[in-house]
Amino acid sequence: MAALRRFIADYPRGTAEGRYVEASLPELPFESGAFDLALSSHFLFLYSEQLDMDFHIRAAEEMFGVASEVRIFPLLQIGGTPSPHVAGVVEAFRARGAFATLEPVAYEFQRGGNQTLRLRRK
Ligand SMILES: C[S@@+](CC[C@H](N)C(=O)[O-])C[C@H]1O[C@@H](n2cnc3c(N)ncnc32)[C@H](O)[C@@H]1O
Repeated sequence: MAALRRFIADYPRGTAEGRYVEASLPELPFESGAFDLALSSHFLFLYSEQLDMDFHIRAAEEMFGVASEVRIFPLLQIGGTPSPHVAGVVEAFRARGAFATLEPVAYEFQRGGNQTLRLRRK
């Protein structure tokens, strides 16, 4: 709730300053390498029934194109079961020579949702 209040309070000024930009994966309106970190929170993997493997790989590749590192959290789909797309995204990134690691995090919103997928360049 504290994070939500902070975001809402900052939103008008952040929008005016161009710090909040509306976009829709699998396309992002940013230049290559524009950011150090791109984070997907409760979007990729969560909607694994609605969004297929191809969408997940294209979205992760798009994020990786605009940032040095990508983190996708959590690895669960709606209902709390593991996403069937995690292995495919990991495989796709390892095949193109990137580091793709599953790492524990201290934050857990969904029960058992305490891992993040971290994608980095070698
Ligand atoms: C469950 S909410 C998570 C919101 C927030 N990231 C969080 O962790 O609390 C899922 C979010 O995915 C966004 N979303 C839906 N389709 C999207 C797309 N194609 N690309 C990027 N975000 C999308 C929705 O607007 C919504 O804000």
